[in-house]
Amino acid sequence: MTTPTPADRFSFGLWTIGYSGSDPFGGPTRAPLDVVHAVEKLAELGAWGLTFHDDDLFAFGSTDAERQKQIDRLKGALDATGLVVPMVTTNLFSAPVFKDGGFTSNDRGVRRFALRKALRQLDLGAELGAKTFVMWGGREGAEYDSAKDVRQALERYREAVNLLGDHVVERGYDIRFAIEPKPNEPRGDILLPTVGHALAFIETLERPELVGLNPEVGHEQMAGLNFAAGIAQALYHGKLFHIDLNGQRGIKYDQDLVFGHGDLHNAFALVDLLEHGGPGGGPAYDGPRHFDYKPSRTEDERGVWESAAANMRTYLLLKERTDAFRADPEVQEALAEARVAELAEPTLAPGETAAGLLADRSAFEDFDADSYFNARGFGFVRLQQLATEHLMAAR
Ligand code: GCO
Ligand code: MN
Ligand code: MN
Repeated sequence: MTTPTPADRFSFGLWTIGYSGSDPFGGPTRAPLDVVHAVEKLAELGAWGLTFHDDDLFAFGSTDAERQKQIDRLKGALDATGLVVPMVTTNLFSAPVFKDGGFTSNDRGVRRFALRKALRQLDLGAELGAKTFVMWGGREGAEYDSAKDVRQALERYREAVNLLGDHVVERGYDIRFAIEPKPNEPRGDILLPTVGHALAFIETLERPELVGLNPEVGHEQMAGLNFAAGIAQALYHGKLFHIDLNGQRGIKYDQDLVFGHGDLHNAFALVDLLEHGGPGGGPAYDGPRHFDYKPSRTEDERGVWESAAANMRTYLLLKERTDAFRADPEVQEALAEARVAELAEPTLAPGETAAGLLADRSAFEDFDADSYFNARGFGFVRLQQLATEHLMAAR
């Protein structure tokens, strides 16, 4: 089934389909997108959720009345279509006041303002039933090493996340936080640049259980990292709270392409992991499948909706292809040959200690390390070719 339905839990940021085409070299190529129209179109395409930054829905500096009007219009569209708001986030990067960041600006007044803005959006998220609050610290960083005390910046980021956690607990909100790493852009270097940095940071928090990750495909790939492998580690630590799916072609500026329009092999591995990497081969992740992409500025409005549909269709096609991969007896045989399942077997015998291992002559003295693999390979390349053929629907 490659027709999306709300059961697939596909969600889109309002800023994604609403991207006007502005980049550092040119202005908008498309007219602004109204939120009610966006909700109606997404529902029509089979999406399940809409996410947004405060400033996506009501412009920075809106009066309370203007803000409320937009919230009411959104609520009306949600009621009419059945679309939900699974996640919200705060824009702490566009307004000039955030030019040196929000939670970690060197200026304390900016930091206090940023906290107030985030708390306000957190309250709105709770009101709309959001379960995840994403924190992407796009401007939390620096261009110059001597201008930012990174250890103090981490302290201030920690202070901010702890405060937001206090607020969630005090108000009894059913919301968790998801930190979104990114190595650079718009800052020269961003704080918490990769999944690994963020995982280590989370453990220093007062309520680490409330905080996980929102990794984005392109962001890890901008750092030259393997996204599917990073997601596997996030799952291993129980920290995959949300995910930003998109496409990226190598180490360059953040492209935010349609999911799959980048490293397709890695997208196949990712969908295989999310859909089949759980216990007994079931889904390893049951959260939203959120697309954070930008319809290229070459496209008109029709291209916006075609590209939105393309994200969902590609995900579902990959799911179908990974189902076929898993069901293929030759793949099962190649997996056995590659001894993939053997990695689940502990290296030591039950109760075995270092002394026991030292006493086992077969493990060392009698282990013929020179000839062990001479006659036999793992067959990893054959396995990868089988994956490639399934990906190409050649099997
Ligand atoms: C990017 C980021 C952003 C954030 C979003 C949520 O592409 O640089 O992904 O799009 O995800 O702003 O705060
Ligand atoms: Mn991005
Ligand atoms: Mn993102």
